[in-house]
Amino acid sequence: MNAILAASLSTAFQPVIGHAISIRPLRADDCEIEYRFIAGLSLETRNNRLLGGARPVTPEYAARLTRVNYPRELALAAVVMLDSQEILIGVARYALEADGVGCEFALVVADAWQGRGIGTHLLERLAGAARARAIPRISGYVLSTNATMLGFARKRGLRLQRVPGDATLTLATLDLALPN
Ligand SMILES: CC(C)(COP(=O)(O)OP(=O)(O)OC[C@H]1O[C@@H](n2cnc3c(N)ncnc32)[C@H](O)[C@@H]1OP(=O)(O)O)[C@@H](O)C(=O)NCCC(=O)NCCS
Repeated sequence: MNAILAASLSTAFQPVIGHAISIRPLRADDCEIEYRFIAGLSLETRNNRLLGGARPVTPEYAARLTRVNYPRELALAAVVMLDSQEILIGVARYALEADGVGCEFALVVADAWQGRGIGTHLLERLAGAARARAIPRISGYVLSTNATMLGFARKRGLRLQRVPGDATLTLATLDLALPN
């Protein structure tokens, strides 16, 4: 990703008094903060993000998540500075499927930072970036038991559909109104 594109995807917002949160593209050199982020997630959050709750979190696995094949994929990181250290507190990503139309997204916010508007902001930024690339919709798999995400998605206008043959999953789709 070039510097101009990276800058256009970077913003700051302040959903919690005292914490300036920046949103920027995830980079390959973020493997350490990504590792700390995933390792710090509760089992429930990892399961809900379908990151394989039982799988050991290794630096290699975290590094793989930071290798983002822009522009076919996009990963936006929400970061905050605490004690002069950058901490990763949320990631929203999408990946275009091979047909170039289908696009899968995923969203996760660190447990201690949930319920403060960060997930909403990340989803809006991800949708804006997808819309700018003329992607018509983004869809994400959600565990059918994940009431928080299903409620979150419904409230933000995503369509919820059963996944044929797999009652454990629900597909949440955000249709993106494309400019004419
Ligand atoms: C779903 C998820 C991304 C939402 O992120 P978030 O930063 O908590 O989202 P927001 O703060 O913008 O909104 C969460 C909503 O839940 C409410 N909420 C209240 N307490 C909450 C809590 N302890 N935890 C989460 N949400 C809470 C918020 O007020 C808000 O309500 P609203 O929908 O009526 O506005 C986050 O819960 C998460 O990471 N879950 C685990 C991973 C996951 O399920 N991913 C989806 C599959 S890819």
